[in-house]
Parts: sequence; structure tokens; C-alpha cells
Amino acid sequence: MKTGEERLKDAVLEVRGITKRFGAFRAVDGVDLDIAEGEIHALIGPNGAGKTTCFNLLTGNLSLTAGEIRLRGEVISGLPMDAIARRGLVRSYQISSIFPDFTVLENLRFALQRKRRGNFDFWRSERHLHTLDGRALELLEQLGLAEWAGTRAGDLPYGRKRALEIATTLALDPQVLLLDEPTSGMGREDIGRVADLIRKIARGRTVIMVEHNLPVVEGLCDNVTVLARGQVIARGTYSEVSADARVVEAYLGTAHA
Ligand SMILES: Nc1ncnc2c1ncn2[C@@H]1O[C@H](COP(=O)(O)OP(=O)(O)OP(=O)(O)O)[C@@H](O)[C@H]1O
Ligand SMILES: [Mg+2]
Repeated sequence: MKTGEERLKDAVLEVRGITKRFGAFRAVDGVDLDIAEGEIHALIGPNGAGKTTCFNLLTGNLSLTAGEIRLRGEVISGLPMDAIARRGLVRSYQISSIFPDFTVLENLRFALQRKRRGNFDFWRSERHLHTLDGRALELLEQLGLAEWAGTRAGDLPYGRKRALEIATTLALDPQVLLLDEPTSGMGREDIGRVADLIRKIARGRTVIMVEHNLPVVEGLCDNVTVLARGQVIARGTYSEVSADARVVEAYLGTAHA
């Protein structure tokens, strides 16, 4: 594989034969994934291919019917969601997890507090509270949200809300970040902004994203895995998979091409 070669070192995530059955239906059917440290990896495929179900299996939102998932060599399949998150594999929260009546800065502060919950010294120390604000402002700066710090989250334009959603996830400092359709429902300007944001936050961490917008995938992702009907039908760089006859066929006659 050529693209992103320098960034591809050790496997951070090794997924073997993961399967999820709902009754007799196999939504995810024996999927293998190898995700290298530091890469941006896209999971693409037609509607109903099993992408979101895969994410739910990786994060522990859903239990596996079969298969195994290793994070940095350690088996994480079977662990509860919060244990997986503590080990550094985190998915972006949905907008509903943002508190609309609080400011952008306050939302970020809550997210940072979530990370430190359980540390009692922290609650006693004024100094730590200031550290928290410093970190919150730093994140807002990094994500281009600084000018919105005092804005009520509920009043943010849609694209900025999605950026805040990503920011609150970053507060957990994940090593592996999963994003499910980060640009969905956005206009062109917001799509470009969120793509830039993802590129920025991918420095020093691994990102796996489900994305229907193929130009975004092409511009952003080092490697791509294509799912159809619960199975991997192709993997490689964007130019490799987009030239694959099975991929073209899987996309024909679907809404997302
Ligand atoms: N809890 C469930 N019970 C039964 N079937 C389910 C369940 N969750 C998902 N499915 C089915 O599994 C298949 C894969 O769904 P999934 O949401 O993973 O697809 P997807 O690739 O994310 O699609 P989209 O691009 O539309 O988001 C679909 O046919 C869906 O109807
Ligand atoms: Mg989905």
C-alpha cells in the first residue's frame, strides 16, 4: 500500500471474523479489519451494508455473535463499552449529548470533567478547575470554535454543532476515534471545514470513519474498507477500491454513488 506509507506502522486495531446476527440475518458477517496506528481509515458501502453495526461492535455497544477484536494486541471484545472507551477507543457522540442551554465552553468543560470523574482531589482544587478551562479553550482554539466559546450550544449553526460534538469527544483524548458520517446533512462549506478538522485531529491518533461523501473519503483517508451485505468486498487505497469491479457493482442502483 502506498498512500500514507510513512504513517502506517503498527496495527492499532486487529479485527477478526466479527459477526453480528439479528435473528437469522447477518448484519455483519465475518469482517476482518486491520487499522494501522495513525491512519485515517474509511469504512464505506451502500446503505444497510453493516457499517454502523460494525462500529457498534467495535465500541461494545453491541455484543458480538462471533469474532475477536484486539486493541494494541489486547482482546477488547466482550468488554463493556466504558472499559473499551477507557482503553482509548471512543466514538463521537451524537448532537443529543450536547447540552443546548449551556455555552460551548461549558459543554467542553463538562466533557473534560467526565474524563476526570472519580478523581476527588480534582474537585477540591481550584487550580485544577483553571487547568480545565485552559484545556477547554485550547481545544476550542484547535477546532476553530474559540469565537463561539460564549455562545449557547443550542444556538450554534449545524456544522459548528457537529464540530462541538467532535470536540467533546476529543476531550476524552481517544487514541482511536470513530466517526459515523461526520459530514452528513452538511452543506459544502461545512463539509470542507469538518474535513479540515478531522485532518487536524488525526495528528497523533487513529481515525476510523464511516462516510458516504466519496470526495471527502478520497481527500482524507489513507485506506478504505468497502462493505456490502455485511462482508468486506474490497480494501486498499481510495483509487484501488474505486477501480474495483465489485465495488462499482455494489454501488450501482443505490442512493449513494
Ligand atoms: N438492531 C437491529 N435489529 C435488526 N436488524 C438490524 C439492527 N440494526 C441494524 N440492522 C440491520 O442490519 C443491516 C445493517 O445496518 P447498519 O445500520 O449497520 O447499516 P449501515 O451500513 O450503517 O447503513 P447506512 O449507510 O444506511 O447507515 C441493515 O439491514 C439493518 O436493517
Ligand atoms: Mg449507518
